[in-house]
Amino acid sequence: MKKIRLGINIDHVATLRNARNENFPNLITVAKLLKKINVDSITIHLREDRRHIRDKDVSELSKSNFLPLNLEMAATEEMQKICLKHKPFACCIVPERREELTTEGGLNVLAQRDYLNKFLPPILKMGIRTSLFVDPCTKQIKAAHELGANAVEIHTGKYSRLFKKKQFSSELDQIKKAAIFCNSLGMECHAGHGLTFKNVSPIASIQNIVELNIGHFIIGESISIGLKNVIKKIKNSIKK
Ligand code: PXP
Repeated sequence: MKKIRLGINIDHVATLRNARNENFPNLITVAKLLKKINVDSITIHLREDRRHIRDKDVSELSKSNFLPLNLEMAATEEMQKICLKHKPFACCIVPERREELTTEGGLNVLAQRDYLNKFLPPILKMGIRTSLFVDPCTKQIKAAHELGANAVEIHTGKYSRLFKKKQFSSELDQIKKAAIFCNSLGMECHAGHGLTFKNVSPIASIQNIVELNIGHFIIGESISIGLKNVIKKIKNSIKK
């Protein structure tokens, strides 16, 4: 069986922390825990509006070096500077709209080819593994390859929405084809967005996909799974 790497997106640990503007839950504590339980990497998305991950988090997590850090970011000058300053293990270029709740679709690499052709080289030269977050579309993947990207991450958001309606088979085929095409060009294929206990298996069983990045579901489900233990502990503390 192939080994598939798992990257955990901890943006929403930061969302919870920011709700009180204190340092709990603490991202470094979470990073240590993820290392202990053999996760392969940590993913964070530094958004323009800093709604969850903040600049200090990028700095602390890249210095702490518990696990390879994958920095998701928009292709802006500001983000490029931050990336070059902190030199994460990896960076993933994503499209970003201020008003969106999450990254809604893949990057239009074709439309931004000239811009990305100037934007990517300093990051690639620094040896930062660079991936582009794209829809399962061979034209976009080909354009990513021509720009020298090391990998693409396939956006599985549409697949996960269709999975709920049991209408996902053609999107899954599209993802399989995209992953095979990506490998044929010599690039790694990753995938992520909207993955859950229920819908992850068909994606994980695609031989050409070597890394998954999962966030919202894992952090959300941790509340359900963890609640019993935490309440038990607080009851013990109350008794004391
Ligand atoms: N991969 C990329 C590039 C993303 O932008 C996101 C969302 O931040 C994810 C993976 C994880 O998506 P989710 O939080 O839905 O698991």
